[in-house]
Amino acid sequence: MTDLKWNVAKLLHEQLPTLNETDIYDMIEIPTNTDMGDYAFPCFKLAKELRKAPPIIAKDITDKLPETDFLASVQNVNAYINFFLNKEMLVKVIISNILLEKENYGIDNSKSKGNIVIDYSSPNIAKPFHVGHLRSTVIGNSLYRIFEALGYNCEGVNHLGDWGTQFGKLIVAYNNFSSKEQIEEKGISELLRIYVLFHEEAEKNPELDEQARAYFTKMEQGDTKTLELWKWFKQISLREFDRVYKLLDITFDSYNGEAFYNDKMAEIIDELDTHGLTEISEGAKIVKLDEYNMPPCLITKKDGSTLYATRDITAVLYRKNTYNFKKAIYVTALQQNLHFAQVFKVIEKMGYNWADELVHVPFGMVSMESGPLATRKGNVLLLEEILTQAIQKTTEIINEKNPSLKNKETVAKQVGIGAVIFNDMYNSIIKDVQFSWEKVLNFDGETGPYVQYTHARACSVLKKSGINKSDITEVNYSLLTDEMSVNLAKELGQFKNMIEEAGQKYEPSYIARYAVNVAQAFNKFYHENSILVEDKELKNARLSMVIATIYTLKNALYLLGIQAPVQM
Ligand code: ARG
Repeated sequence: MTDLKWNVAKLLHEQLPTLNETDIYDMIEIPTNTDMGDYAFPCFKLAKELRKAPPIIAKDITDKLPETDFLASVQNVNAYINFFLNKEMLVKVIISNILLEKENYGIDNSKSKGNIVIDYSSPNIAKPFHVGHLRSTVIGNSLYRIFEALGYNCEGVNHLGDWGTQFGKLIVAYNNFSSKEQIEEKGISELLRIYVLFHEEAEKNPELDEQARAYFTKMEQGDTKTLELWKWFKQISLREFDRVYKLLDITFDSYNGEAFYNDKMAEIIDELDTHGLTEISEGAKIVKLDEYNMPPCLITKKDGSTLYATRDITAVLYRKNTYNFKKAIYVTALQQNLHFAQVFKVIEKMGYNWADELVHVPFGMVSMESGPLATRKGNVLLLEEILTQAIQKTTEIINEKNPSLKNKETVAKQVGIGAVIFNDMYNSIIKDVQFSWEKVLNFDGETGPYVQYTHARACSVLKKSGINKSDITEVNYSLLTDEMSVNLAKELGQFKNMIEEAGQKYEPSYIARYAVNVAQAFNKFYHENSILVEDKELKNARLSMVIATIYTLKNALYLLGIQAPVQM
């Protein structure tokens, strides 16, 4: 599709030599109503330069356009020039290209466009890994894959919340309410139990808070014994986070969390001071942001200790030095909008002209059918429970629909997890998500399982044909000019554009919706056209569409972080 749009742009450029081809290309629209052609070129913007009314310009150009083999017809309607593609050419350009690119369709593996750092997941040690973190994890992972597909090299950073006063509290709680054995055995749930208990007890006995503060100060001073406990808590937590990451099939290039910046902040605070950006307010060190209508950014507290923002400012500079990024992306809940706006402004005030390369990608909340999920109880266990429940429920569905399926366990895992991931990204991510099992696991709805199922169906048709993906080289495209084939081809041809848009808008939902569109177009094609027909040439042609669909759906699912089983 993309290619033929260039052909149209070229053709128009010959009539409009003062405009460059790329600008013309960008002006060309894809009409929602196919009666208006496959492409439409509006002439409104040309009126000023050509000093003619737009409908007259449109008519003049239409009259002058030469006949070409890729166009069936060109029609002038008011200020628009509507282009109707030659259907055979259209299908041919798209499908032959997919058959050529194969597994790489839509994916640029060059890593040649520079580095992008993506900060995602980033849970807090010994605090709940809640559904917000799950959302950050899957959205970040998808953006990672999308930008890699666009030709960038991505660095995935898990900016662990592994420093802060909670560790002082945890040490006190550990001393008073738990034991090494209990923590080794029960992991995060035990850490959470005693953390909550600490808060309850501290309300009655403020002395505990004092102790906690003292322990944290010890940590900050580098006391080996307390630091060993800290390390151990971190290990216990990471062990369990990793279980979730494994289930989701997600990895990171770096686990440099907040603690990593402990010895790097002093230098940055100095830099802020020398630039005259800091002032002291009630004992705290702040950077004022009045000119942006923002509250000041806190750099150090009265007692000299640093804050979340201090570590983030330091981390930005460290990442710029280490990765020389083209963009640094942060995926968090929208509650952190102000925090990132402040951090980015401080970087700008420090005189770094690349501050505009910093992007916060905020997302909305997830709630269960019965009340919000992101509560204190929402810990790593609950998350694992959601994922294992998804797998279990999928197993039940498979047992009912396809009891003799091979690799049932693997498929149930791929589909169950895929369903949860897909649900998080089907709508614009800024929107809140309502989590309902019925919706998530619906094999016929706009869901992950529906897309996976369509992919599996295409794979099974191909398998039945006994033909391999790479066997088909010669295709008679004149056999694929029926409405359903043309519509499917058009959909398939949009893949690259969709990835670009998803990247530009930081919206995996473009890919999710696209995958559903392709699946729907394929299912219509499939119902309308028998594929395994006697006529060899026709069978071949239709199979070429099946193969192109398999490549496209598999890659679209990949970009979302979802697997594509060949059978289900
Ligand atoms: N740990 C934070 C939280 O749970 C998220 C960190 C996001 N990344 C960052 N660089 N601040 O809310």
